[in-house]
Amino acid sequence: MRILFVTSEAYPLIKTGGLADVSGSLPAALQHLGADVRILIPGYQSVLDKLKNSHLLTTIHGLPMVGSVELILGEMPDTGVPVMAISCPSLYQRAGSPYLDTSGREWEDNPLRFGTLSQVAAWLSLHEDNPLGSWIPDIVHCNDWQSGLTPVHLYYSNKKCAKSVLSIHNLLFLGCYSADWVKRLGLPTESYHMNGLEYYGQMSFLKAGIYYADSITTVSPTYAHEIQTAEYGFGMQGLLAARGHEIHGILNGIEMNEWNPATDPHLANAYDVTNLEGKKQVKHALQTQLGLAPNSDSPLLGVVSRLTHQKGLDMFLAVAEPLLHQGCQIALLGGGEAELEAGFKQLAQRYPQQVSVTIGYNEPLSHQIMAGADIFIMPSRFEPCGLNQMYGLRYGTPPIVTRTGGLADSVQDSNPITLQEGTATGFVMVAPDAQHLLTSIHRALAYFREPRIWQKIQRNGMSRDLGWDRSAKAYLEIYSSLTSIAD
Ligand code: ADP
Ligand code: GLC
Repeated sequence: MRILFVTSEAYPLIKTGGLADVSGSLPAALQHLGADVRILIPGYQSVLDKLKNSHLLTTIHGLPMVGSVELILGEMPDTGVPVMAISCPSLYQRAGSPYLDTSGREWEDNPLRFGTLSQVAAWLSLHEDNPLGSWIPDIVHCNDWQSGLTPVHLYYSNKKCAKSVLSIHNLLFLGCYSADWVKRLGLPTESYHMNGLEYYGQMSFLKAGIYYADSITTVSPTYAHEIQTAEYGFGMQGLLAARGHEIHGILNGIEMNEWNPATDPHLANAYDVTNLEGKKQVKHALQTQLGLAPNSDSPLLGVVSRLTHQKGLDMFLAVAEPLLHQGCQIALLGGGEAELEAGFKQLAQRYPQQVSVTIGYNEPLSHQIMAGADIFIMPSRFEPCGLNQMYGLRYGTPPIVTRTGGLADSVQDSNPITLQEGTATGFVMVAPDAQHLLTSIHRALAYFREPRIWQKIQRNGMSRDLGWDRSAKAYLEIYSSLTSIAD
């Protein structure tokens, strides 16, 4: 089985969020199960810098507005999974993030940047006139809006081609642009239709993928249901419900070696499920490093997150003060909406011994908070899967979460029954509001003060198998069922 895995980010080459973690680890898990996988990714500078054993594979000509691009073949630095990077300096080699310029605005030419990614992916998926010839995939696995146009190109190519799978990691990002991009990107005008890629007078990359892909997946079973409802569907619920029988919810796994408190190079001490002593030293080191009072009894509440409406951290800000008065500490790492950043920074100024706020992206600190905190706070309003709550489980840092998406599918509330059953791993809020967050934190603090119960909750989470194996097999089953269907 040959799989072309198309993504706009993949750890450790480039990362802005969970998509990168998935794109870094799922292809490796598929490869481990015997699949022949290649990642296709834009050739941002950091991708070109970090690829191992890279060399020019071929030049692809005739791309709308761009002309030609070079295809570089290399390997993932850690797993050795083959990567094809699209080298086109005018599109991808610039300061800023993959999606935003240095002042945080979306790049104006994003439709061209990701239209090109989608188009190259489509051409590489053709079974006739393939520009590469030497490696022709059975499946093209697209991820989020950035590769949403690939299935459209394939549909209208009228050529034999790979079957397409679209994974929705977050329906919030629809990739909507003005309709004149349809022509500019070389898409057939008939695709711009309600039964096609038109979305409220614009074109939507994601709707295109949802409409034309052979199969659709999303990153948790609960989110697969949620997106078919008006509350979570962003106007796409009708189309999604119409394709409901083809939507598979597969919970993400995590990279168990990268996220392992027993071997994590970013931690001051190692620990594991059989010996939690080291976690206390990691907490002490974190408190010292962040300038917090090095008090082992103070419950340390950790946050690592994008600071956006989705993540619900405004609820946490709203209830933080009473918690600080009760002796809690907060360690937050994240960035995003200016108002939230400012709110947390003010809190840190007012309570310097108890609150540490780091704005920005910091990989080592994200591991240190995950390990050094006692409780992980993740009150998302919606969460397709979420990886941080799983990192929390793995690091013995029970998460407090809302009952939505992958949070509902990966965290089991702690109460007398689940404690008795040995399934308690965290705390699930009854409703997504500040009051219920506070109630859940209080419930967690009550158990925190009873070390024997607390360690039970920690150990339950740390013993969970959160790796990719089961989910990667589920993807392989979908691929197999698609390739067994005759054209
Ligand atoms: P999302 O992709 O919606 O942001 P996930 O929980 O799926 O949420 O994944 C977020 C990923 O990004 C995790 O690996 C998390 O550790 C990481 N992350 C988020 N913010 C930061 C940050 N400021 N610094 C370092 N890593 C971060
Ligand atoms: C998106 C979602 C997040 C998910 C990640 C990886 O960023 O917001 O919930 O874990 O994709 O699938």
